[in-house]
Amino acid sequence: MTQVTVSIPATSANLGPGFDCLGLALALYNRITFTAVPPTPSPPPLTITVSGVDAHKVATDESNLVYQCANIIFDKAGQRPSPLHIHQENNIPVGSGLGSSSTAVLGGMLAANELVARPFTTAQILQFAAEKEGHPDNVAPAFYGGLVLGVAHETGLHIERFTLPELQAVVVLPDFHLLTSEARAALPTQVSRQDAIFNAARTPLVIRALQTADYDLLRIAMQDRLHQPYRIPLIPGMAQAFAAAQASGAKGVALSGAGPSLIAFAPDGHERIAAAVTAVFAQHGLASRTWVLTVDNGGVDSEILGY
Ligand code: HSE
Repeated sequence: MTQVTVSIPATSANLGPGFDCLGLALALYNRITFTAVPPTPSPPPLTITVSGVDAHKVATDESNLVYQCANIIFDKAGQRPSPLHIHQENNIPVGSGLGSSSTAVLGGMLAANELVARPFTTAQILQFAAEKEGHPDNVAPAFYGGLVLGVAHETGLHIERFTLPELQAVVVLPDFHLLTSEARAALPTQVSRQDAIFNAARTPLVIRALQTADYDLLRIAMQDRLHQPYRIPLIPGMAQAFAAAQASGAKGVALSGAGPSLIAFAPDGHERIAAAVTAVFAQHGLASRTWVLTVDNGGVDSEILGY
């Protein structure tokens, strides 16, 4: 038997102005285990089990995203372990804006690559994962940890990674269904020069503010005109939730990824901020889940048994 377990952190993409290029890894993890089982008489070729948060929302047939992404690697490698057992142990809520789909994409590809004796480099796997996602701002920080700027250019993906100091972020996830595809469809295809400059000026400021834990700078930096103005109205209470977070002490406040979760940075008072935002969503008829999370600076981690 060969067994590979990959642990992948949650991520918060965009961080306000860094739409589709900036993301941060957070210390909340999904673990994906692939086991290549020795053939016994008539075993099922594929079994998938899921435990933990939102387990009932994850498909356990061939439409499972981890399996689909593993298949991309098996096809490229021309090898396919069978029978194969996949187990997902999830702590990251599904469809939340915390990069759960990136953990499935990266975890499936990395575990598959290990099971077929690593035909692809980690840089290639990251490129495949970014292509599958369509943008690198979740998969790149999930892979490397810390704060990552991902720049897609004609010869591939350029990554700039920044180790961050101890920071804590409040994440509040309202119980509201918003597909990333819907949140992307709400965006205009053209933006004004002023809005482009607004974001271009602030994206490097977010990096500087997070690296130096400069919360006053973060308040200026973490503003956006490219996606949040179009997405915030899609989520009941979100505009008021931003205001409540700021009024209760948060400095930088943003939609996490495409939403529907909100991420807020503050030097202290995290529970107070979480309570204030939760109260706003409750006024709009939505229950919330909350986390106070530290930054993950380690990225993916894997454990291989049986080589
Ligand atoms: N940058 C992406 C977006 C992250 O905002 O649509 C969500 O996958």
